Amino acid sequence: HRPMRIGIVGLGTVGAGVVRLLETNEALITRRAGRPIVVSAVSARDRTKDRGIDISPFAWVDDMNELARRDDVDVVVELIGGADGPALSLARVALGAGKPLVTANKAMLAHHGMDLAGLAEKAGIPLKYEAAVAGGIPVIKGLREGAAANEISRVYGILNGTCNYILTTMERDGSDFGAVLEEAQRLGFAEADPTFDIDGIDAAHKLSILASLAFGTQIDFAGVDIHGIRNVTADDIREAAGLGYRIRLVGMAENDADGLFQRVRPILVPTDHPLAHVGGPLNAVVAEGNFVGSLFFQGAGAGEGPTASAVVADLIDVARDEYGDPFAMQVAHLLRQPKADSGNR
Ligand code: HSE
Repeated sequence: HRPMRIGIVGLGTVGAGVVRLLETNEALITRRAGRPIVVSAVSARDRTKDRGIDISPFAWVDDMNELARRDDVDVVVELIGGADGPALSLARVALGAGKPLVTANKAMLAHHGMDLAGLAEKAGIPLKYEAAVAGGIPVIKGLREGAAANEISRVYGILNGTCNYILTTMERDGSDFGAVLEEAQRLGFAEADPTFDIDGIDAAHKLSILASLAFGTQIDFAGVDIHGIRNVTADDIREAAGLGYRIRLVGMAENDADGLFQRVRPILVPTDHPLAHVGGPLNAVVAEGNFVGSLFFQGAGAGEGPTASAVVADLIDVARDEYGDPFAMQVAHLLRQPKADSGNR
């Protein structure tokens, strides 16, 4: 079969990881995708930066929007990040040009997901975002495929690796917040602006996407009640431990007769709950379905390999022509529905 040619925009940790993964697992990816997936063009801020990958076989394109319009690019992979700015402009150009879009950009989807899904639906092409929520954990595919037959009543979990790393390290060492945050930044989990991590905004972006998928409602980021972990002290953690609890930053969404309820906040988790055992920078998601019962997903929510794994899984889906996507393909339907009430409890 004809290869599927991709253009990658953004060659940071994840972009370089996608190139490495496509190369390392080339044979099995070709088999599973039904055709080769090849990188034809790339674009990033700095052409000369050493990324540990050879980009010389790919066309280098200075103007990222131009990359999306190239004839040798069938699918656009957006890995720049940021809710607005170049990422959003690229996404619009790609979908407008009828190119499927694969993105890891939770902030952009939280703010503009409905708008982008509308463009994708209009063009009849996929918009894929497995990497945007909980990195390598296949939670989007888990909900939209595995749990597709279920009514989901509640979805919740640990959606920010930086915060989980900070809380679990404080718990283990009794160290204080500031020192551990610096460590998390050094390790490369934290967002470019770490306030998005520690103030719960990154978790809220992901939660709003999960809620939309779980409940078939419009993405409602503004409806998330957000509290971060800035004020959690080593004393709080010690006292909670004395009572049999651990402190975790949990995003939770529920949909019932009172409306849609979305919140992100540090909560006390009993030590016998699986979320209490999610260590370091890992993420975990629990989804409760009316037939399947409680599902527990756990894995790496950030980092090169795991996030690249999710991006390439989406590329394989696109290569297989699996175009059905809950919020992309049903957005016209969703837009006719009233917005979910943000529950007030
Ligand atoms: N800063 C994010 C985290 C990266 O710490 O979970 C993955 O979205």
